[in-house]
Amino acid sequence: MKLFFFLLLLLTAATSAADIPLGSTLYAADPNSNWPSPNNTFSLSFIADPTVSPETLIAAVTYNNITIWQAGATANSSAVLRLLHSGDLQLLPSSTSTTPLWSSATANLGVSAASLEDSGNFVLKNSSGAAVWSTFDHPTDTIVPTQNLNVNRTLSSGLYSFKIQSNGNLTLLWNNTIIYYNSGLNSTMNSTLTNPVLDIQPIGIITLSDPTLSSPQNLAYSSDYAEEGNILRFLKLDNDGNLRIYSSARGSGTVNVRWAAVSDQCQVYGYCGNMGICSYNDTYPICECPSQNFDLIDPNDSRKGCKRKVELQDCPGRETMLELDHSRFLTFQPELASQVFFVGISPCRLNCLIGNCIASTSLADGSGLCYLKSSNFVSGYHSPAIPSTSFVKVCSPVMPNPSTAIASNGRTNRWKLTAWLVVVVVLATLLGLAVLEGGLWWWCFRNSPKFGGLSAQYALLEYASGAPVQFSYKELHKATKGFKEKLGAGGFGAVYRGVLANRTIAAVKQLEGIDQGEKQFRMEVATISSTHHLNLVRLIGFCSEGRHRLLVYEFMKNGSLDNFLFTSHEQSGKHLNWEYQFNIALGTARGITYLHEECRDCIVHCDIKPENILLDENYHAKVSDFGLAKLVNPKDHRYRTLTSVRGTRGYLAPEWLANLPITSKSDVYSYGMVLLEIVSGKRNFEVSEETNHKKFSLWAYEEFEKGNIEAIVDRRLQNSEINMEQVMRAIQVSFWCIQEQPSQRPMMGKVVQMLEGILVIDRPPAPKAATEGSVGGTSVTASSISALSTFAASMPVVSSSSSLQTAGISSSASGKHVDRASSSLLQSETK
Ligand SMILES: *[C@@H]1O[C@H](CO)[C@@H](O)[C@H](O)[C@H]1NC(C)=O
Ligand SMILES: *[C@@H]1O[C@H](CO)[C@@H](O)[C@H](O)[C@H]1NC(C)=O
Ligand SMILES: *[C@@H]1O[C@H](CO)[C@@H](O)[C@H](O)[C@H]1NC(C)=O
Ligand SMILES: *[C@@H]1O[C@H](CO)[C@@H](O)[C@H](O)[C@H]1NC(C)=O
Ligand SMILES: *[C@@H]1O[C@H](CO)[C@@H](O)[C@H](O)[C@H]1NC(C)=O
Ligand SMILES: *[C@@H]1O[C@H](CO)[C@@H](O)[C@H](O)[C@H]1NC(C)=O
Ligand SMILES: *[C@@H]1O[C@H](CO)[C@@H](O)[C@H](O)[C@H]1NC(C)=O
Ligand SMILES: *[C@@H]1O[C@H](CO)[C@@H](O)[C@H](O)[C@H]1NC(C)=O
Ligand SMILES: *[C@@H]1O[C@H](CO)[C@@H](O)[C@H](O)[C@H]1NC(C)=O
Ligand SMILES: *[C@@H]1O[C@H](CO)[C@@H](O)[C@H](O)[C@H]1NC(C)=O
Ligand SMILES: *[C@@H]1O[C@H](CO)[C@@H](O)[C@H](O)[C@H]1NC(C)=O
Repeated sequence: MKLFFFLLLLLTAATSAADIPLGSTLYAADPNSNWPSPNNTFSLSFIADPTVSPETLIAAVTYNNITIWQAGATANSSAVLRLLHSGDLQLLPSSTSTTPLWSSATANLGVSAASLEDSGNFVLKNSSGAAVWSTFDHPTDTIVPTQNLNVNRTLSSGLYSFKIQSNGNLTLLWNNTIIYYNSGLNSTMNSTLTNPVLDIQPIGIITLSDPTLSSPQNLAYSSDYAEEGNILRFLKLDNDGNLRIYSSARGSGTVNVRWAAVSDQCQVYGYCGNMGICSYNDTYPICECPSQNFDLIDPNDSRKGCKRKVELQDCPGRETMLELDHSRFLTFQPELASQVFFVGISPCRLNCLIGNCIASTSLADGSGLCYLKSSNFVSGYHSPAIPSTSFVKVCSPVMPNPSTAIASNGRTNRWKLTAWLVVVVVLATLLGLAVLEGGLWWWCFRNSPKFGGLSAQYALLEYASGAPVQFSYKELHKATKGFKEKLGAGGFGAVYRGVLANRTIAAVKQLEGIDQGEKQFRMEVATISSTHHLNLVRLIGFCSEGRHRLLVYEFMKNGSLDNFLFTSHEQSGKHLNWEYQFNIALGTARGITYLHEECRDCIVHCDIKPENILLDENYHAKVSDFGLAKLVNPKDHRYRTLTSVRGTRGYLAPEWLANLPITSKSDVYSYGMVLLEIVSGKRNFEVSEETNHKKFSLWAYEEFEKGNIEAIVDRRLQNSEINMEQVMRAIQVSFWCIQEQPSQRPMMGKVVQMLEGILVIDRPPAPKAATEGSVGGTSVTASSISALSTFAASMPVVSSSSSLQTAGISSSASGKHVDRASSSLLQSETK
């Protein structure tokens, strides 16, 4: 009797409700036929494949209509998915057919049942419950939490694949050869890995673990990581060749892009197919042909690439080179090694014309690099911010594109000629005038004793008056000894130490991604240099020569604040006491207040973080990098992704991600995070055991609620004398500043008064609004996870009607309003 009960128990356990017995079949024709997971989170069923055609069906494991796995073949409505008595799972074209479209190849391996687990894993198991085959072991283009990738498992989508190399590097490949993304572990960790395994944590962090690593290493963070709620986060290789983290709240039916490996979509090799040229219209990457010598292969899908109207072998002796300004052909390993030459721009064209080569790129960045492409696949990128010039071999005559500016055409050549004529005439006239004036000058002053010293005096006057000095590139090159001593690398370019002619030590910033005319650049420089405050770094001068744009700042002896806040315990000598830190917090607040409220042309900083707070020899805080956000070309997509919108992860106000207007209140948010870091000595976005696997800033508020202030305050401060009243004020102010709703955050002027104790501080509410879900902003519906729409979701949307109103700022109730499109507007005005 007992034995019978035991057997019954065993039987019910083995074939629990979720188990799918051998012989079961799913019918594509029946929309209600599916195999769900026990708590209905996932299900295996036939669904339409929107990327192919509405009639095409796939057998897929889905979550809220999001496919996380699919069988390796497509089918139509007469298909069935059957778990055969042999233990093989087969996708069959019809219920009577015996030749499968796809199979799991598990016949006679002891499979006794199947089940879809709550994790989303569909498992074929043997009678002792061990997995013989599972979808987690055979991923398609997606992994979900608890699933992992090792060196033997690849995600693939079309020609693209994502692999983890045996050394732990993550690589994205095109056609299994071209590596267009290769990202490794921190190089300071030189341990050789033995079995690297990658997975995505439920909270949205990609980690790499290995037996030789003491703990898993975090490789990437989704922008909503550690936010709570019933959210599925997954890693997907999209068919546009980008690897992204998505979030989807259960039941919402929407997915949001939270991270992308390649921030500039046009840098994905082959995105526009062979001979296709990738560029951006206002927000989206678009694909075009180099010239009218080409046709789109598929007029309905420009991503398929272009073909020549006349093939090269059909016009022997009549080949010519089509010139593409501001364009380059992507060159990655392993092609790179065989394609690099050091020649000038015209040999770069000529060598390709006469050689076994179909296209070439001359980098034109002073390096003298030329890539000669002989493979029969080339992938192009056009942007006004690219200095390179490229050439494509075509049959003459060259037929430029009519409207776009990709190809330089005959009309521009005529224009160039006219322009040259005008320039020559004007120069000749000016020269004549200058000679005349010089003669007069010399005649008037030849007896004056001051004559010799005049120019030097004039230079001195310029330094002292506060007007920005204009330097030549050569001068700065010399001052920095050829840009040798790098002080740091900010979001806008590297900073070098330099000694000016008058022995002043300066910090020289070499701007990158600036695509503005001379005139606009000078206007911005004038605005920046007219902004003087004790707590702002002073601009001494600038250089604008050809493509070179440099800014010269006063040198700050003690570097940036992050060096003092986040040092390890061994370097505690570099730590500052509370009095200094409080003054730094206050000084920073005063500097920002001046930018926001007190100067003539108000400035929203857009990138407040400890790296941008510099300390002079007396440890007084000076804010740097203000006014630069306006200089950066919004079309430079390196600065436009979720992860690197300018600011740094952790300091960006939620409105950056939600495409809401950026106002001075966005700076207040960033300042609040910095203030919390000054008090705690911890990065606000840190996640650790100690913080209960929550973001430090969220955890800190919980501790504050519990009255556990000590837990928040930096332990290194607790050894010395600290003014608890100031600490308390700083903590409360920081929570006010990081309120989710911009209108809840105080203006900077008030922040100063609260810190000073002039204004009474109310108890701050929880920084995160109770209404979870409204945070992330842009959503795309699950059914439209196509390449373009998902990419667009990560791009800030520019409203064109408001672009006109500002080249910077206009007052509004909730603060000063800066428009992201302002600098692009300036450009188009001058075109
Ligand atoms: C489905 O495809 C099979 C061939 O794979 C074909 O014979 C059948 O007619 C198709 N059924 C429908 C409904 O289109
Ligand atoms: C379903 O199960 C998974 C795994 O146990 C769990 O994470 C998830 O929260 C569950 N969902 C529901 C709606 O119960
Ligand atoms: C089930 O598979 C596991 C692992 O492969 C194996 O150890 C076990 O013996 C198998 N059980 C049966 C009944 O075949
Ligand atoms: C990967 O595959 C190779 C060859 O099949 C095998 O030797 C190796 O153990 C596998 N590695 C892992 C981590 O599964
Ligand atoms: C991909 O590579 C294979 C050989 O590895 C080659 O035959 C094929 O033409 C390549 N595809 C494209 C689109 O170049
Ligand atoms: C791994 O990635 C790093 C960049 O993160 C790169 O410098 C290194 O060359 C890569 N290693 C290999 C073997 O590709
Ligand atoms: C590399 O690791 C070192 C020490 O673990 C750390 O200080 C540094 O910030 C890391 N760099 C990056 C880019 O993660
Ligand atoms: C790096 O590798 C070298 C040589 O293999 C070794 O001597 C050194 O200790 C390693 N450093 C670290 C931080 O593991
Ligand atoms: C899933 O898709 C079906 C049909 O396309 C639709 O009716 C349903 O509402 C979708 N479910 C969710 C959660 O989006
Ligand atoms: C940019 O291209 C996308 C996709 O081709 C299109 O939907 C959008 O309307 C274009 N935008 C502009 C401003 O041309
Ligand atoms: C493009 O689309 C149109 C209408 O959707 C269709 O008639 C045409 O055949 C398609 N062309 C190609 C080359 O697929």
